[in-house]
Amino acid sequence: MPDRRSFLTLLGGAGLAWPRSVEALASRWSGGGAPGDDAFWQDVRAAFLIPHDRIYLNNGTLGPSPRVVVDAVEEHGRRVAATFPPGVAWDDLKGGLARLVGGDPQGFVFPRNTTEAMNFVAHGIELDAGDEVLTTDHEHIGGLEPWRLVTARKGATLRVASLPVPARDASQLADAVWEQVSDRTRVVCVSHVTFTTGTTLPIAELDRRCRAAGILLAVDGAHPPGMLDLDLSTVGGDFYASSPHKWLLAPQGTGLLYLTDPWRTRLWPTLASGGWDDLSLGAHRLNHMGTMDESRLAGLLSAIAFFEGLGMERVEARVRHLRRRLQTGLRALPATFIASSDAEELACAMVSFRIDGVDSLDLQAHLSRRANVRTRVIGEYDYGWMRLSTHVYNSEADVDRVLDLLHDAVRTGVPAR
Ligand SMILES: Cc1ncc(COP(=O)(O)O)c(C=O)c1O
Repeated sequence: MPDRRSFLTLLGGAGLAWPRSVEALASRWSGGGAPGDDAFWQDVRAAFLIPHDRIYLNNGTLGPSPRVVVDAVEEHGRRVAATFPPGVAWDDLKGGLARLVGGDPQGFVFPRNTTEAMNFVAHGIELDAGDEVLTTDHEHIGGLEPWRLVTARKGATLRVASLPVPARDASQLADAVWEQVSDRTRVVCVSHVTFTTGTTLPIAELDRRCRAAGILLAVDGAHPPGMLDLDLSTVGGDFYASSPHKWLLAPQGTGLLYLTDPWRTRLWPTLASGGWDDLSLGAHRLNHMGTMDESRLAGLLSAIAFFEGLGMERVEARVRHLRRRLQTGLRALPATFIASSDAEELACAMVSFRIDGVDSLDLQAHLSRRANVRTRVIGEYDYGWMRLSTHVYNSEADVDRVLDLLHDAVRTGVPAR
């Protein structure tokens, strides 16, 4: 952490000299950063464009890019406009990702989001009439609808396992999914971390069971990259779909699909362009999608470097610290149901809850009006929970302010929106 004096020097007289390169940020953040070191994390917050009076607790929907990422996108766009298109630094991108989230660099494909990635999987495997695809009642439309479409079209069946809320432990979750497996199940598709409650599903255990039964496992990993200190080479699953524009804070429209080895040459491409059938290209066949917005990949490269500078271990510890503070505070609220698990092995950086007698959408509008708080209400499946996400730009003060407002809401209620 810089002392106050060097901080002011860095800011410069006009306040304009905030480090604009990821290298400068990485060296600035080389020491400190314990989970409760709020001064360090305030310095991290200053690398963002989020207005100082906004409490953004909806990273689960979209991650706000730090300034260095916005700059990288803009710079790329300028070079394209100057008719000097730099192209995509594929090797840097795949190598950087493999360092940050694990996995083999050869396995990465770059669609626009989890939805597109999961469509690539659902449309790219063979599925016959009578086959079953098993999912859960905590899947997001982005991970679910591709399977609904493909099963409807092929005369296959979509089955839905019901997950416990709040979940007690990993084996309870694995069993809840596995109870619905039949001898017709061809694919299991589940979230790594659910969008509904931020619960981490036991992917490694499901992977073990699926392999033994000859079932494919497709993982909706929209959330973990940039949130958890992840290793894609051990997490499990045949396919891992994600959205770096969430926790990895990459530009909007930056997706990720990780293919395990046999599928790099086996998956049918959904979009065909030159080389789609050249198996020597492996997974890269699927990156041939015609002209695309390369600037978002320049932004992703910058986002990867930003997180490498912070270190994923430090990031995960901090985002968990803030979520624990939030969840502990929520537990002290009367008449409040917490849908997220209490077990640290199942929890991460999102917590969902409902206050008895308070409509969560009314509460959302109230928090927004009172303190510019951004939240997400999980209306899907009629759950009606408010979800709060904690990321590196949040502070303990953000959490405490929201808890104070929630205490007031319990005491006095909130106006209808
Ligand atoms: C678990 C999960 N899957 C998929 C999606 C869809 O993501 P995208 O819109 O980036 O495709 C989301 C978005 O919130 C999500 O939470």
